[in-house]
Amino acid sequence: QPLHTSSVARELIDTARALVHPRGKGIYATDEDPQTIAAVLGGPIDEARLKEWTEEEQRDRRRKWREAAYKAISSEYISGVILYPETLIEFQLAELLTSKGIIPGVRANADLRPIPRSEAELAVEGLDGLLKKLQAARIAGARFSKWRCPIACTSVVRGLPTQAGLETQADTLAQYAAISQQAGLVPIVEPDVAFTEDADLPRSADVHERVISAIYERCRVHGVLLEGSLIKPSFPQPGLKHPSRDKVTAEDVGLAIATVIARSVPISVPGVVFLSGGLPSEVATSYLAALNALVNSSKPDSPFRRLPVLSFSFGRALQGDAAKHWVRGDEEKMKETLEKWSRACWLAAQGKTA
Ligand code: 13P
Repeated sequence: QPLHTSSVARELIDTARALVHPRGKGIYATDEDPQTIAAVLGGPIDEARLKEWTEEEQRDRRRKWREAAYKAISSEYISGVILYPETLIEFQLAELLTSKGIIPGVRANADLRPIPRSEAELAVEGLDGLLKKLQAARIAGARFSKWRCPIACTSVVRGLPTQAGLETQADTLAQYAAISQQAGLVPIVEPDVAFTEDADLPRSADVHERVISAIYERCRVHGVLLEGSLIKPSFPQPGLKHPSRDKVTAEDVGLAIATVIARSVPISVPGVVFLSGGLPSEVATSYLAALNALVNSSKPDSPFRRLPVLSFSFGRALQGDAAKHWVRGDEEKMKETLEKWSRACWLAAQGKTA
């Protein structure tokens, strides 16, 4: 028995596809919480000054930045934008995006808490009351949502993620995805595998493969309509504490990612949209370009030819440099920089470089 009426299913599928078509288009993630965005917009203003600002002044600054950024982006490169609930519900900026042909989405996940069995791993809260929250987001204009789960990743010897950690995150993401579809929003499940520790590239790829496989196993149990969903993983890569960190090439990473996706993402899922994870913009776009170039050059009978669309859902890699110009009051340069990186991501998602 299908969980959705055919018209709801049709809309979810159409929206999921519109977020990754035509090829090259991707998502701009602007769902940082107020503390994080305050740090992004800190710029040359020192922390002491930032603390002097009242809550109201900081809120106003967030609204102005979001509005300026949304006005600057183009639907030529950007298919959708992820909004923080405040931006969607209180600032009501969805209409600004919709009028430009860009699909608004909302961040659905709430706070993190340690997993009792393994306190170094963090579970994600927010499932209670989620349906109502997402129904309100839909009324405010959202058509998709995202939920980020951080996944710890160390060498085999150090042993993270644990089975408890992995299963908790996979089940939470699948429950979230089912609820999001119940509210009429395309879910983007986001397993964000850490690269701060001592895993090498094969270990990072193995953890990605296991967590993504576990997510789809649980999605089956919870009745998620895969055709009306997307996944937003991190790029497999050696950890910052592993000696091979600076030796891997974008091509090594591209091959690892293609292999992981081919083994773990069902072909029913229309798209994979990567997060940038704080990597320099050049590095994040080079990984995406190498991955798509590999797919484009694969033989017709290669499994890589059957992968979903591989695009971006970047936050920092898209807006990091642009925000610095905005902080200095240079709106023109901000627009130019956002356009430059949107276009670079759009090219990378087609396997090309700027
Ligand atoms: P980054 O690309 O900055 O990692 O942001 C994407 C995102 O949505 C993280 O949750």
